Amino acid sequence: EGSDRPPGNKWSFSGPFGTFDRGALQRGLKVYKEVCASCHGLSYVAFRNLAEPGGPGYSVAQASAFAAEYKVKDGPNDAGDMFERAGRPADYFPSPFPNEQAARAANGGAAPPDLSLITKARSYKRGFPWFIFDAFTQYQEQGPDYVTALLQGYEEKVPEGVTIPEGSYFNRYFPGHAIKMPKPLSDGQVTYDDGSPATVAQYAKDVTTFLMWTAEPHMEARKRLGFQVFVFLVLFAGLMYFTKKKVWASSH
Ligand code: HEM
Repeated sequence: EGSDRPPGNKWSFSGPFGTFDRGALQRGLKVYKEVCASCHGLSYVAFRNLAEPGGPGYSVAQASAFAAEYKVKDGPNDAGDMFERAGRPADYFPSPFPNEQAARAANGGAAPPDLSLITKARSYKRGFPWFIFDAFTQYQEQGPDYVTALLQGYEEKVPEGVTIPEGSYFNRYFPGHAIKMPKPLSDGQVTYDDGSPATVAQYAKDVTTFLMWTAEPHMEARKRLGFQVFVFLVLFAGLMYFTKKKVWASSH
């Protein structure tokens, strides 16, 4: 059950003060929409979320216009029929397959997982004592490091001693190396309008940043509050120290 350990990356969202790179979120959304969405759902994300603080930074009008490009299923109407209409901000991203069986049937038996929480689901946990170190260091980045490595981990030449069954593809980072997802990204596939390089490496980092945001949309607020709590506790500890000295001061 071999697979290579994904290399680390410098993510804008790393560390206690990390934030999401707005440009990367917007580009990553485009990569998801134009590439991943044909196989993978994003069913926990609503179009309105794209206009919320701490996200890709779109206006409500932009999020509405984006939603309107989608067709979503609705109904039943008064006549009892299901129908399709243009997406609205309150709708969630529509999934590419109606159910898991259909998803499996279209992908050689392996259902493409919903990507909403994938960067969390694929952060691996190490055993004692390493998890103690991980909690303070790399933990948050393990999922994103894996996803971005996976997207770049396809190789034409299968190494000696590895056999890949029909309908699977060699990937350096997928556990067991044989994945049923065909290489999804190639250079020039998605057009960027901000001058960022149209390369697999850039697409992979951008879509991974986007998927980190979908998995933790309130990360920036969480870190801000965490820091404020920390500052408060330091000040409060100082205050309590002098209070204690005063209350317990001897009176003679
Ligand atoms: C699996 C991401 C495009 C089909 C996965 C996994 C991730 C992922 C993270 C989970 C791997 C694991 O289990 O550890 C992406 C991203 C895409 C993309 C970010 C766009 C850039 C596609 C496309 C297809 C596809 C276009 C269909 C043609 C699958 C399938 C699996 C999978 C079938 C299950 C693989 C298996 O369990 O063997 N993908 N994917 N993906 N993906 Fe994609």
